[in-house]
Amino acid sequence: MTAIIDMNDFSITYAGERGPVPAVRGVNLTLEKGRILGLVGESGSGKSSLVSAMLALLPKSAKVSGRLSIGADDLYALSEAQRRAMRGQRLATVSQDPFTALNPVIRIGAQLVEFQHRLKGISRSQKLERAREMLARVGISDPGTRLTQYPHQLSGGLRQRVAIAAALLVNPSILIADEPTTALDATTEAEVIEIIRELRGAVDGSIVFVTHDMGVVARLCDDVAVMYAGELVESGPVAEVLERPQHPYTRALLACDPARIETPSRSLPTIPGTVPSPHALPAGCIFSPRCGAVIDICRSVRPAFLPSDQSRVACHRTEAS
Ligand SMILES: Nc1ncnc2c1ncn2[C@@H]1O[C@H](COP(=O)(O)OP(=O)(O)OP(=O)(O)O)[C@@H](O)[C@H]1O
Ligand SMILES: [Mg+2]
Repeated sequence: MTAIIDMNDFSITYAGERGPVPAVRGVNLTLEKGRILGLVGESGSGKSSLVSAMLALLPKSAKVSGRLSIGADDLYALSEAQRRAMRGQRLATVSQDPFTALNPVIRIGAQLVEFQHRLKGISRSQKLERAREMLARVGISDPGTRLTQYPHQLSGGLRQRVAIAAALLVNPSILIADEPTTALDATTEAEVIEIIRELRGAVDGSIVFVTHDMGVVARLCDDVAVMYAGELVESGPVAEVLERPQHPYTRALLACDPARIETPSRSLPTIPGTVPSPHALPAGCIFSPRCGAVIDICRSVRPAFLPSDQSRVACHRTEAS
């Protein structure tokens, strides 16, 4: 198996007004080529920060430490120019709001040609033809007409399909989708997820899909990584983690939502207590103040993120068993 993303003790700290914000701490995560990873966690757990780091799109106020490799390249050992080139060629993104990806005053066709500006040796008319084929591939009927239209002439679902087509036109080795269905109604959401599922064969690489929704993880993903307050608490194959969750946080998430697979919801279920602020992190295990299975060591020693069955889990209780 080839790791396409490999993160080792990777952390992100923002320079905030009230001092440093350690938004992501000590993440160890590997994604193999060809797989779809679901990244889940409550609001503020650091999902967008982590995928922005993968895309080399963090704001200037963010400092990173540890290692984040894309293929053989240590992303943050590269120059800014090399990182930018990597983003244009090997990484592509679909965001929550398809409007941000599309310019409202330029026709779809011209935009999809422009997205391919790094592809050498193909003429403009060939790029337009590639764009037309890609629109058809993401299930847009009459793609030739769509190419001549402006973004506002398309529904939200169609715009999101265009955004997916745009991302795929650069032949990325990694497609990163940060809650791409949040702005869509449930039917359109299901359609977009179906498209991504169908496209997985066409993407010569891997997909990272950020979501609040365990139902989406179950339907779409091969692997899942669960974040809590800036740390990865559990990761592994979807079948394993959803059937046999080992971390008390993952268990709580799933237990609060018994119908998780049949009726996907847009928000995570409620667990008693609140997520700690990055300014006041508890000692020991990050989840210990809310954990029903807490033991003494949890309040003083941070658990290591260790292999357990086919997963990796950061929990003293798993270590002990
Ligand atoms: N530019 C920034 N400057 C300072 N702090 C930031 C910045 N961006 C994010 N943060 C903080 O980092 C933490 C993680 O935020 P992030 O947006 O990555 O979480 P998230 O899991 O994507 O949340 P959501 O589900 O709401 O999208 C939060 O505490 C947030 O306030
Ligand atoms: Mg986010």
